[in-house]
Amino acid sequence: VRASKRRDGAEPLVMVTAYDEPGARFVDAAGVDMILVGDSVANTVLGYDDTLQVTVEVMAHHTAAVSRAHTQALVVGDLPWMSYHVTTPDAVRSAATLIRAGAQCVKLEGGTNRVEVIEAIVNAEIPVMGHLGLTPQSVMAMGGYRVQGRSNEAADALRASAEAIQAAGCFAVVLEGVPDELGAAITNQLDIPTIGIGAGASTDGQVLVFHDLLGMSKGKPAKFVRRYGDVGEAITAAVSSFVSDVRGGGFPGPEETYSSSPELTEHLKD
Ligand code: KIV
Repeated sequence: VRASKRRDGAEPLVMVTAYDEPGARFVDAAGVDMILVGDSVANTVLGYDDTLQVTVEVMAHHTAAVSRAHTQALVVGDLPWMSYHVTTPDAVRSAATLIRAGAQCVKLEGGTNRVEVIEAIVNAEIPVMGHLGLTPQSVMAMGGYRVQGRSNEAADALRASAEAIQAAGCFAVVLEGVPDELGAAITNQLDIPTIGIGAGASTDGQVLVFHDLLGMSKGKPAKFVRRYGDVGEAITAAVSSFVSDVRGGGFPGPEETYSSSPELTEHLKD
């Protein structure tokens, strides 16, 4: 992954989230490079309004489920809010918890303010992916989910953060919710690959959330989402057919029914 710069001729990297064994199996069969066990599990699976509600134990539970799919793709465990914000030793222990649960590397949000933590986790032999721009764990501080890096100062600060986390040892960085031109500038300035989500077409890879990509998420998707399926509608249609069949007496039929031996049939008549 670390060598996958498009300017050096590499193919764009593809990452998709997954939160359980079947999800990981399906996305791995599609040939993705990386599976992110994202803290977006809070919104997509657990019904919360933001990602602040999930703990390292919850993330370890989902990471373990994904790892049981034994994927070809690299499994990235997402460090949740407050698992790396208090002390550096805490952060290293949180990263180790996700590795022991089955992740092969971890992702964390933040820039210059996270350099010490990134260095410590890398020093513990755990590869770290960064995450800059619209970082959902900062939703309170950002005052909502807003595109970041729109002013010259904010763009310069993000570029400085990108340099700092690369120097701290990140092997790749997710760029979320930044203008196309800033995505391109950061991609050009870094030697590590950038993986975009709402960061334009110039990044070294793209990531989408499983439920957004498949049409299973609640509410209006963000501008950067493209829906590649209507799995939510397909689920409702299939379950509606089951409901009709049960209520109409069409399920189960002979092919879904076990029959008894003639002796048992006779015996049951008594
Ligand atoms: O948790 C997640 O799904 C993420 C992606 C949006 C990159 O961090």
